[in-house]
Amino acid sequence: MNSSGSVGISAMKPCCRILISCTNSSFFGYPPRKFTRFLHNLSKLHSDSVQSRRIFGCSCPIDSRRSSFSGSSSNLGQCRAFWSCCNVVGIRGGSVIVNVASDFRSHSTSTVDSNVNDKNFERIYVQGGINVKPLVIERIERAEDLGIEGVSSENGLNLNIEEFKDLTEVENSRKKKEVSEIEKEAWGLLRNSVVNYCGNPVGTVAANDPADKQLLNYDQVFIRDFFPSALAFLLNGEAEIVKNFLLHTLQLQSWEKTVDCYSPGQGLMPASFKVRTVPLDGGEGAFEEVLDPDFGEAAIGRVAPVDSGLWWIILLRAYGKITGDYALQQRVDVQTGIRLILNLCLADGFDMFPTLLVTDGSCMIDRRMGIHGHPLEIQALFYSALRCSREMLTVNDSTKNLVMEVNNRLSALSFHIREYYWVDLKKINEIYRYKTEEYSTDAINKFNIYPDQIPCWLVDWISDDGGYFIGNLQPAHMDFRFFTLGNLWSIISSLGTSRQNEGILNLIEAKWDDLVAQMPLKICFPALEYDEWRIITGSDPKNTPWSYHNGGSWPTLLWQFTLACIKMRRPELARRAIDLAEKRLSVDQWPEYYDTRNGRFIGKQARLHQTWTIAGFLSSKILLNNPEMASLLFWEEDYELLETCVCALNKTRRNKCSRGPARSKVLV
Ligand code: GLC
Repeated sequence: MNSSGSVGISAMKPCCRILISCTNSSFFGYPPRKFTRFLHNLSKLHSDSVQSRRIFGCSCPIDSRRSSFSGSSSNLGQCRAFWSCCNVVGIRGGSVIVNVASDFRSHSTSTVDSNVNDKNFERIYVQGGINVKPLVIERIERAEDLGIEGVSSENGLNLNIEEFKDLTEVENSRKKKEVSEIEKEAWGLLRNSVVNYCGNPVGTVAANDPADKQLLNYDQVFIRDFFPSALAFLLNGEAEIVKNFLLHTLQLQSWEKTVDCYSPGQGLMPASFKVRTVPLDGGEGAFEEVLDPDFGEAAIGRVAPVDSGLWWIILLRAYGKITGDYALQQRVDVQTGIRLILNLCLADGFDMFPTLLVTDGSCMIDRRMGIHGHPLEIQALFYSALRCSREMLTVNDSTKNLVMEVNNRLSALSFHIREYYWVDLKKINEIYRYKTEEYSTDAINKFNIYPDQIPCWLVDWISDDGGYFIGNLQPAHMDFRFFTLGNLWSIISSLGTSRQNEGILNLIEAKWDDLVAQMPLKICFPALEYDEWRIITGSDPKNTPWSYHNGGSWPTLLWQFTLACIKMRRPELARRAIDLAEKRLSVDQWPEYYDTRNGRFIGKQARLHQTWTIAGFLSSKILLNNPEMASLLFWEEDYELLETCVCALNKTRRNKCSRGPARSKVLV
């Protein structure tokens, strides 16, 4: 896409909406809070004077005169607000910032470069981190050409695809018909779930269960649920829906939102949105389509979707990597969107830790489950989103401080998680012998963890060569439950060291019967039972032991597992899990989740035809068959980030920096 030196609108299909776009770099010179408040006031002004509804609408025909905005640069010193019929997809970023492109993209540690449109994958080398055997893929050919289903590296050995071909041809031709039918069915269902707005695809509904009597909000487009759909479409060469989704949700970000007259921060992304059809004021029989976002103000429990903005940033980066269309992330409005999310996440608070402090249920687990504080899932997504932002943020005078903040936070966050969240046999033994009540800056047991907190199940459960990041860490409290999504994203983003990442997969393999069993994968392990269930979930009848968020099995976690396995050169583990899922998902009509300790039953209240189950399965298959594509979506260790200790104590000399001595442990 061409980036003109102003705000421009291309002749695409019409939507009526309010657009707020900033076109002068000096505007970004405002301190973040002032800038945020300014935008906030501006959006309030609009909501008061222009539109009384809190929803976006589309009804008008293309107004060709709109294109006259393009090239107009006379008033670029101000933030502009348009309320008109136009298409968000056509708004282009100003060159003021676009031209100073960040070079972090080229420093991205995904070693296969990004232009997917370049189909020439004749000879691609995917390098490993220092402690990981390099996977060398020689001469990747298209699966159809070879008549095989995929590439797997059994035993983690370097693999020549020609040798692999002979071994798998017989088995695959046997399976091929069955497999392709299931995939065909999945594609059909995925396409049926697509939601259109003004004639353009903008997302997928959460579930399309034909028998569902109580839709709740499953007919909405959830930001987090759309990720695997986006991935399936992108990997299938269908980028339009993803681009539309990114731009429409960006519009919703800057909209006014209130819960009982209180407004959360400006960068918040909605949990979900719905396309509604409403009668046009004064228009006889005329209707308009409107986008109606939910920022948690209607959600069960009024949970704030902290993860939405993080997923949005991660998807934006994936879109660029897979399509090669970097113009999208360079647009001024998109850059502003990234900055607003970052401002919200990086804002100063009372917190002592680099981890994000959130309420219960602020992510995929969006009900009370005792995950308030600093849950791993949010930290791993936060780390991933920061790494994405580091690649995507345009660097100039007005962003250099933000970029520095991002770098500092990345460095502090990875240290904190690697040092304090990691448990393996050795660490548990250390905790078992901890001294408590240590008042000093040199304390070993910094968080005053009482050894009796080590749960009985853990002592026998932890494998000899495995380990994992615990679910949460607070003063005097470690939540030892294993949360799958957070651990998988720690691998994908290299939040963990390569040894730790290896350890997580070792543990999943060793504890396969607990974490995978009959359906991949447990959302967390173990379930809360008896008094713990009563006190921690508040006696939630949906989260009974081994059901739903409380130890249920969620097939949508499969694509993230696949990505982690490919990264760690263990695709055979992913293959095992996908085979399991494939045997049941279609037969069971693609449920949202499974119940019981082994994942034997379809979940008590599980929706059928759940979109992220379907899309997660499809993405897993495609990723496994295209490891070169997968490599665009994960990160290796960034040694630059580990180099600098940003600790102010170095300068003041009042105290000594505690990171120094611990460093050797962390850099393994
Ligand atoms: C449930 C899940 C949540 C998901 C939503 C839509 O609320 O807990 O993670 O986004 O359903 O599928």
